[in-house]
Amino acid sequence: MTNKNDFYSAVENRRSIYGISSEAVVSNERIQEVINHAVKHTPSSFNSQSARVVVLTGEQHTKLWNITTDALKKVVPADNFGPTQEKMNAFGSGYGTVLFFEDNSVVESLQKQFALYADNFPVWSMQSNGMLQYVIWTSLELEGFGATLQHYNPLIDDEVKKEWNIPSNWKLLAQMPFGKPVAPAGDKQFAPLEERVKFFN
Ligand SMILES: Cc1cc2nc3c(=O)[nH]c(=O)nc-3n(C[C@H](O)[C@H](O)[C@H](O)COP(=O)(O)O)c2cc1C
Repeated sequence: MTNKNDFYSAVENRRSIYGISSEAVVSNERIQEVINHAVKHTPSSFNSQSARVVVLTGEQHTKLWNITTDALKKVVPADNFGPTQEKMNAFGSGYGTVLFFEDNSVVESLQKQFALYADNFPVWSMQSNGMLQYVIWTSLELEGFGATLQHYNPLIDDEVKKEWNIPSNWKLLAQMPFGKPVAPAGDKQFAPLEERVKFFN
């Protein structure tokens, strides 16, 4: 199922790439274009469009990983911090980071508006944000970047909100550091598809 740059190849080629550098692969304008495209076209329940994204590059990206390092220093014992510091250095070595949020005020307003589905909206909100994370991850891969999906929330929530003046109703869900790939993805095991998919024809 391949054809360079078609959808199936992009799906297959998106991997977790931990080795990244700060070298530019495409322009900031192009990054903005593919991220705007993903945010605009990724579906959401009731077309609520509750996902929010913040893109940090250059010094802003560095600042995020310094904030995360400082937050982790408060919870990881100092004599055990080596591997954590290495991870922080690796993410910080990238070109930028995409921060994913959901606007809780949109979700709450839907819950009030459609009481019958009140319990579902928070679940759908997460599902939709996951779709957006996937589209952006795959788009960055198509542009020639490597990326991973990280979760240092809620540890860094307050500092992030303060630093980038994020509205209080935006809930941080994930961080996606990206950069020029400098090391290939690791091996990946695949469970048998017969155990995961059933067809009834
Ligand atoms: C919902 C979700 C959460 C994840 N959280 C993390 C994470 O916190 N840190 C991390 O390094 N990778 C995280 N990953 C990456 C997975 O470990 C990775 O996608 C999986 O092992 C398959 O490898 P691949 O991305 O190279 O295909 C996450 C992936 C998903 C889909």
